[in-house]
Amino acid sequence: MSTQPFDTPPYGVPRTAPPGVLRTDGEPLLELENVSRVYGEEIEVYALRDVSLRILPGEFMSIVGPSGSGKSTMLGLLGVLDLPTSGTIRVAGQDVSTLDDPTRSKLRGNSIGFVFQQFHLIPHLTALGNVETALLYRDIAPRDRRERAYHALDQLGLSARADHRPVQMSGGEQQRVALARAIVTDPLMILADEPTGALDSANAAHVLDIFRSLESAERAVVMVTHDPTVAGTARRKVSMRDGRIVADEQRVEATT
Ligand SMILES: Nc1ncnc2c1ncn2[C@@H]1O[C@H](COP(=O)(O)OP(=O)(O)O)[C@@H](O)[C@H]1O
Ligand SMILES: [Mg+2]
Repeated sequence: MSTQPFDTPPYGVPRTAPPGVLRTDGEPLLELENVSRVYGEEIEVYALRDVSLRILPGEFMSIVGPSGSGKSTMLGLLGVLDLPTSGTIRVAGQDVSTLDDPTRSKLRGNSIGFVFQQFHLIPHLTALGNVETALLYRDIAPRDRRERAYHALDQLGLSARADHRPVQMSGGEQQRVALARAIVTDPLMILADEPTGALDSANAAHVLDIFRSLESAERAVVMVTHDPTVAGTARRKVSMRDGRIVADEQRVEATT
């Protein structure tokens, strides 16, 4: 294995990859190398400046920083929703800029579950229908698809809401549907941008508990937040300012 530029956690080497996903063999799941993202042409805005970051399987990480510091930009790049202006991004060892669009979409669909602050559910679909959308591009019989989607909703305590449309659900329930949609594919990475930002404190605590329950040795969970309580639950905290990483801290914990 190559020399790593900073401390790595004592956990998280995958034993076996789940079926149907990329094997990673202890390599970083996500890697940014000298990545910059510049918006605009005449007036250039550096949303990210020369950022390097490695995220290993098993990590539970928060990203914090003031508004405009580049958190969403970085998460979008990690989630292959966007491409860098310069630098290299590797997802499970693959340089994403070398992939064509369909392959990139496939990588995203197979390996990454994304959760947004504003849920981003499809209004005319039921909770079940929304979760099913994550499986649509896969070669799965409709009945199996429905069963898997139902199972994911059930895991999040939402089986009684399967037939409800988003407008018929509370914010906390909608975010749990969005979480069910993110986990139904059993992704290697779960990326969330302020997932508790639109929720009251009770619902935020519930959603956070669910995030904690998603930790596993094979998976990485990355959460952008401005809430210090939320950030405090993560094992690793990356702080951003003006498009750069200004701190990368590991919470010290006894290993079992
Ligand atoms: N699509 C865009 N076009 C132009 N500027 C953008 C765009 N998205 C983000 N920015 C700028 O990039 C910087 C970082 O934004 P962002 O990643 O959204 O920060 P954060 O999520 O930390 O609030 C900000 O200055 C923002 O105005
Ligand atoms: Mg943001």
